[in-house]
Amino acid sequence: MRAVQKTVAVVGQGYVGLPLALQAVRAGFHVIGVEVNEERVRRLRHHDSYVEDVSDLDLMNAFDSGRYRVTSDFAEASGFDIAVISVPTPLTDGEPDLNAVIGSSTSLAPLVKPGSVVVLESTTYPGTTEDVVAPLLEEGSGLRAGEDFALGYSPERIDPGNATWTFARTPKLVSGINESSRIAVQEFFDMIVDHTVAVRGTREAELAKLLENTFRSVNIALVNETAMFAADMGIDIWEAIRAAGTKPFGFMAFTPGPGVGGHCLPIDPIYLDWLSRERTGRSLGFVNLANDINRGMPGYVVQRIGEALKSRDRVIDGSRVLLLGLSYKANSGDMRESPAMDVALKLLEAGARVRAVDPCVEGPPVDARIEMVALTEEELAGAEVTVLLTDHDSFDYELIESASQHVFDTRNRLVSHAVERL
Ligand SMILES: NC(=O)c1ccc[n+]([C@@H]2O[C@H](COP(=O)([O-])OP(=O)(O)OC[C@H]3O[C@@H](n4cnc5c(N)ncnc54)[C@H](O)[C@@H]3O)[C@@H](O)[C@H]2O)c1
Repeated sequence: MRAVQKTVAVVGQGYVGLPLALQAVRAGFHVIGVEVNEERVRRLRHHDSYVEDVSDLDLMNAFDSGRYRVTSDFAEASGFDIAVISVPTPLTDGEPDLNAVIGSSTSLAPLVKPGSVVVLESTTYPGTTEDVVAPLLEEGSGLRAGEDFALGYSPERIDPGNATWTFARTPKLVSGINESSRIAVQEFFDMIVDHTVAVRGTREAELAKLLENTFRSVNIALVNETAMFAADMGIDIWEAIRAAGTKPFGFMAFTPGPGVGGHCLPIDPIYLDWLSRERTGRSLGFVNLANDINRGMPGYVVQRIGEALKSRDRVIDGSRVLLLGLSYKANSGDMRESPAMDVALKLLEAGARVRAVDPCVEGPPVDARIEMVALTEEELAGAEVTVLLTDHDSFDYELIESASQHVFDTRNRLVSHAVERL
């Protein structure tokens, strides 16, 4: 495959689709980003990135190459050689919502021609590529998947903000609905990432992605539960994890926190459980237990804040609480499913006066009742409790320790013995 002659349509220009599109441009492909959100299209055209791992300069370079354009009109992707679908797969009423996958497959179908390659990248339950995407593409194109055009699944492992394991460096799983499809999908990704790993079938690749995220969810739940127990026992969980982490085999250190957030951990394991219930009638115990424990963490954090106030003869109702970090992970502005927001809302319900600092979160206030403030000595001194929820590197930790009345650190970021830890 020679990139220079090929056109790639990347459907969905979000956290996953945009870095992929720009990497394909760098590899020499002509790329059309198809994005239904008009505001996002406008921002991209103004070189105004909304994705942390993509800088405004990256966007400018992509447009300047003459090989990147973005549109909300699928018809403009007509004539594509390779299409990658990177659209959201959320939960609606606790169940998988494949509307974006179905919508984009339906829109793409009339543009599929003999020799096209279509790859689903969205995280989803096993069977989606073959049972949902293939019939839609076949019906709209009049062609046979696997025979007239190639169809495969390649899950994304992008970790926004991770400077070591970047999109190109992270091994990419590739699969197809048959061998010729897998070869076509692998040939494409071999040109844009350092290393691809062939997987026998699309169902196995779909399950691999859910397994990776369920593994994290379960292990985080384990340390969260252990952290709550350790706190009751007066044992330092962070020191115990550090100690266990010195074992060179058979242990992998995970850290506790105020809960899990983002588009992956609170959602992907539920896709797995849903499929199990649908097809076998059985629920997946680990998935549900982990989900319950992780979802309970914001409540536990609020309980600990209440206890900290009580020890100083105060109650949450009427107290001023300063939250540091509202996004779900450090150095990111991503607010999706953020447990920090759950903490904020629970504190508001309990009558706290909630103020928050988050230099990474842009746009309008996340909730009118939460006053967004700058990290100053006065703010820290004026709050009865300062709670570190998301440990952005840009926070002035020395100032936080020296100026706060009481700090509750849910991330083990602060060094002083005076700080209370999760
Ligand atoms: N964000 C991550 O860290 C991450 C990591 C691995 C996998 N994933 C998976 O990748 C998929 C995409 O996630 P994301 O984080 O990029 O989501 P996102 O919301 O950042 O981006 C998806 C984009 O698709 C657009 N879109 C929605 N419906 C569309 C349609 N019918 N046609 C064209 N565009 C459409 C949305 O407007 C949005 O801009 C999800 O399945 C997610 O689970 C995400």
